[in-house]
Amino acid sequence: MNDRNRHSDRNRPRQGGPGPEGFSDGRLVEVHSHIARDKQEPAQGFSMTPIFVVFLFCAFGFWAGLYLTRNSRGFSASAFDLDAPVASASVGPAVFEPDAAKGEKLYLANCAACHQPTGMGLPGAFPPLANSPWVAGDEKRIIKIILVGMAGEVEIAGAKYNGNMPNVGAALKDAQIAHIATYVRSAWGNAAEPVMDVSVAEVRKALGSRGQYSPKEILEAHPLGK
Ligand code: HEC
Repeated sequence: MNDRNRHSDRNRPRQGGPGPEGFSDGRLVEVHSHIARDKQEPAQGFSMTPIFVVFLFCAFGFWAGLYLTRNSRGFSASAFDLDAPVASASVGPAVFEPDAAKGEKLYLANCAACHQPTGMGLPGAFPPLANSPWVAGDEKRIIKIILVGMAGEVEIAGAKYNGNMPNVGAALKDAQIAHIATYVRSAWGNAAEPVMDVSVAEVRKALGSRGQYSPKEILEAHPLGK
């Protein structure tokens, strides 16, 4: 019964729609004026950006700024240097670990051309580091030699040298020198304590811009066997 009622509804003229004889004149005018009113006014140029888009853009800019300040490590040039101390609070204070394996790589790149990969040096030209009392004992001796170099007559392991070692360490970082010294002091029969980066920093500061040592000067400051 309900179904039949709905069917009969369909044939009834809808309110506002055309009657059986179409629209009356008055209704036509009314409908047209509606349509004319709903049309947008023609405007020049672009429509205004909705205010919430502007707000979103500003919010994004603010977030990006925050992100950069927090994660750029002060835009420091060493941000991607694995040996550089990490100053971020989330990582905690950097702890330096003297690393003989890193030291070996650095030794091969910076020292081995003269002292040889075996640490044996070259007779008459470059003194050996293997079993050298110059390498053992007070770490300041080897740090100083690496930082400013050494030139002059010297007798090492029963052989005379009058060579010229440049200031190889001037171009290296404290941590790199500490790794090298740690390696040299533990390789080829040497058995001395590892060296920390802060020790290198201290010596570097104390040396300032002084030039090469003579063997005599070094031995006066740091006698062998100590
Ligand atoms: C260009 C060659 C050269 C390079 C590179 C070089 N040295 Fe030397 N080194 C020498 C010479 C030459 C002497 C001896 C200086 C003298 O006769 O007064 C010496 C002396 C030393 C001594 C003291 C003497 C000894 O045999 O124990 C140490 C320690 C040393 N060098 C370590 C290093 C380390 C570590 C490096 C790398 C960071 C290095 N050297 C790079 C040439 C070099």
